[in-house]
Amino acid sequence: MASLIRLLKRLEMPLPKGDAADFPADFPLLETQRLLLRAPTRNDARDLFRYAADPLVSRYVVWQRHETIADSRRFLNGVIAENRSKGGLTFAVQDKNSHAMIGTLGFNWIDNENHVAEAGYSFSREYWGKGLATEALRALLGFGFDTLKLNRIEGQCDVRNPASGRVMEKCGMRREGILRQRYFLKGVYTDMILYAALKNDTSNDL
Ligand SMILES: CC(C)(COP(=O)(O)OP(=O)(O)OC[C@H]1O[C@@H](n2cnc3c(N)ncnc32)[C@H](O)[C@@H]1OP(=O)(O)O)[C@@H](O)C(=O)NCCC(=O)NCCS
Repeated sequence: MASLIRLLKRLEMPLPKGDAADFPADFPLLETQRLLLRAPTRNDARDLFRYAADPLVSRYVVWQRHETIADSRRFLNGVIAENRSKGGLTFAVQDKNSHAMIGTLGFNWIDNENHVAEAGYSFSREYWGKGLATEALRALLGFGFDTLKLNRIEGQCDVRNPASGRVMEKCGMRREGILRQRYFLKGVYTDMILYAALKNDTSNDL
């Protein structure tokens, strides 16, 4: 928490109003040129709802469109609990310019035995097409390899979602194959493309 406050002061960004318990002292804080990747808090519900209510954002992800702000609160409670239990690691992505929380990104799961994790992300449609997902994912991969000492980071995207595949490619992740009918998404079995980056790929590609 102390380091988050120091950074926000340096960036002249408003201090978070959330419950201090939402900002565990050991929660990582990543900064990129345009973004801050920080612990999600319950106070992000309003910003989250603004974009998670958009059916185009949830079209190819495992979660359902948020119909009310209560859905956004439940979602945040879920990721905060998962962050605490270390089952996954989800960052809130904050735009340094507008200070808005504009997306989430992180590891859906971390397999500590095999040093593998799966990356996932979604961003507000207002911010698409500006290279922000790529900027955030690059930071996540660097953090995963350098700090978490992962050996392999995977990601999957629906075959109908080429923008997501492109984000992973731009970050140096390689396409490994198709997982046929891997998920039952919004009423249909969907083929997923599996991407991955290895620690040893990084010097060449990331
Ligand atoms: C996928 C998503 C994260 C991309 O975010 P973004 O900030 O727009 O991504 P970037 O700007 O960094 O890069 C997008 C790339 O996809 C490309 N792209 C966009 N639409 C595309 C399409 N229909 N076909 C092919 N490429 C496409 C862009 O041109 C860009 O590549 P370029 O830089 O080579 O031109 C965003 O659209 C999103 O949040 N979608 C909803 C949630 C989601 O689907 N998450 C991923 C689940 S696997």
